[in-house]
Amino acid sequence: MTLPDSLTVLDHPLIRHKLHLLRDVSTPSKLFREVVMELTMLMTYEVTRDLDEKEVEVRTPLETFTARRLGGPELVVVPILRAGLGMVEGVLRLLPHALVGHVGLSRDEESLQPVEYYFNLPPDPEERRFLVVDPMLATGGSASAAVAGLRSRGATRVSLMCLVAAPEGVRALAEAHPEVPVFAAALDRELNDQGFILPGLGDAGDRLYGTR
Ligand code: PRP
Repeated sequence: MTLPDSLTVLDHPLIRHKLHLLRDVSTPSKLFREVVMELTMLMTYEVTRDLDEKEVEVRTPLETFTARRLGGPELVVVPILRAGLGMVEGVLRLLPHALVGHVGLSRDEESLQPVEYYFNLPPDPEERRFLVVDPMLATGGSASAAVAGLRSRGATRVSLMCLVAAPEGVRALAEAHPEVPVFAAALDRELNDQGFILPGLGDAGDRLYGTR
């Protein structure tokens, strides 16, 4: 079955290399956190390809030159707690002036439905651009709820960056929010009966923080 055009899989040898380390069950939390950060940096380079720019005059040591720099309001990175937190630093290394909003969602392990427990955004969401980050797009319930929460608070420009996506989650998100571009490091095969991505990398939150 075809997948929505909203999905971009960032195919690159470095991305595949970092991802194989995350998939490996023997990778300990310390290395897992470092690799999530590095992978997020690599992905941020592509995900921010269409950021607004403006022209500025700069004086090089030799002459004056019209250069381009980032323009418009700062990007807002929005991690879905808790696993999304592992991706924030990778974005901030490249965009140190980005703001960080937080969306607290946990997945009810029986119904697989997301439950919202925290939501915090900077003022004037309608003027900003949001990048929701979460390592896993499984059923798509958490991402859809996060986007719905952002939209109900006035956000109009929202993208999602995840590490591993399941086809089911990509379709569910595109059905609920077709306007949201989704960037993934990999598109995996399927979900299992417990809503885990196969082959996946396990529970990203547990692996990042060593707790359940
Ligand atoms: C995981 C993951 C996503 C969500 C994906 O979070 O980090 O947020 O599940 O699943 P979905 O697409 O089916 O909604 P989890 O609920 O395990 O919480 P955690 O981040 O605190 O580990």
